[in-house]
Amino acid sequence: MNYNKKTVKDIDVKGKKVLLRCDFNVPQDKDTLAITDDKRIRAALPTIQYLLDQGAAVIACSHLGKPKNGPEDKFSLAPVAARLSELLGRDVVMAKDVVGEDAKAKAAALQPGQILLLENTRFEKGETKNDPELAKAMASMAQVYVSDAFGAVHRAHASTAGVAAYLPAVSGFLIEKELEIMGGALADPKRPLVAILGGSKVSSKIGVINHLLDIADTIIIGGGMAYTFAKAQGGSVGKSLLESDWLDYCNDMLAKAREKGVALLLPEDTQCASEFSADAVPVLHGARSIPDDMMGMDIGPKTIAAYTAAVKGAGTVIWNGPMGVFEFPSFAEGTRAVAKALAETDAITIIGGGDSAAAVAQLGFADKMTHISTGGGASLEFLEGKELPGVACLLDQ
Ligand code: 3PG
Repeated sequence: MNYNKKTVKDIDVKGKKVLLRCDFNVPQDKDTLAITDDKRIRAALPTIQYLLDQGAAVIACSHLGKPKNGPEDKFSLAPVAARLSELLGRDVVMAKDVVGEDAKAKAAALQPGQILLLENTRFEKGETKNDPELAKAMASMAQVYVSDAFGAVHRAHASTAGVAAYLPAVSGFLIEKELEIMGGALADPKRPLVAILGGSKVSSKIGVINHLLDIADTIIIGGGMAYTFAKAQGGSVGKSLLESDWLDYCNDMLAKAREKGVALLLPEDTQCASEFSADAVPVLHGARSIPDDMMGMDIGPKTIAAYTAAVKGAGTVIWNGPMGVFEFPSFAEGTRAVAKALAETDAITIIGGGDSAAAVAQLGFADKMTHISTGGGASLEFLEGKELPGVACLLDQ
């Protein structure tokens, strides 16, 4: 896939109306709807500011959550408009709909240097179906399309991909940066390239493991998915997370790694608990000899030593997925130790995926990483080497 795309710098936007797709799908408090993490709004600011400074009129749009039946107050982008206005230090006009009368009238009246935010694109049924009529209606309000919604580039929706058929389409600075850093790490990495994969399910990481076996020098496995590997090797994993349908797959991956000379590291020891609880007391066991009445919750000290040593010798580290149940302080040590090793290395460190980004932030290491991706599913599909519709639709350089 070609990641060398035209950007806002390659197109004249002065005096033009620009439809800007952002990923403002931010976490919110369930009761008050207050935004609990505005990272994605902040990440869009450089492109918005640039467009406004260039004399464009910016019509921003995004999805929020997964509304299924048209407009619903709890999925309104109004809290995002308020936060965006605070961060920009200027008014953000909010439309009541996406391509309805209000949006069209406000878009038509918008002046250079002003910004309008359309309502949640998923209030329109055609959005997730990539309906050409909706894409055309959105495009009709603007003369240029800019996408900066990296977190949504894996979606072939009307506002993330369809609209590019009707307008000159370029990327904003966030997509440019994500593609440059992650694309560079995959295409021409500073070696050794160490990939750390965690999280609960092997099944959700198959594509990533497959793709990285062709690229990485070392693949480190942690988190819940390690127990399926341990079982595949003939180990006992007690009550740990297990995907029995994927045992053969794990053995195939181990064989493929041997064949390709990729070091595939698995846990040696595991901190276990008798129940899935924050109050459980950690008990250390061998990773392939977990008693029947216990479950693995985190990697143990021998494993931490091996994994952090691999990180120390790396040129590039890509991390996706925590090493254990880091939400429980007693089982956060493995994730914390790996995050600390990344924070202390001189290697290029890239954090992809919602959970790993949350772990790094929660453990206080966020500002020590080279790059923390704003994409969850999008980063994962990027690491799988898949074509991303929201990138493919943009003009090539
Ligand atoms: C994300 O949060 O990963 C993106 O905004 C995509 O959201 P979606 O999974 O609802 O399409």
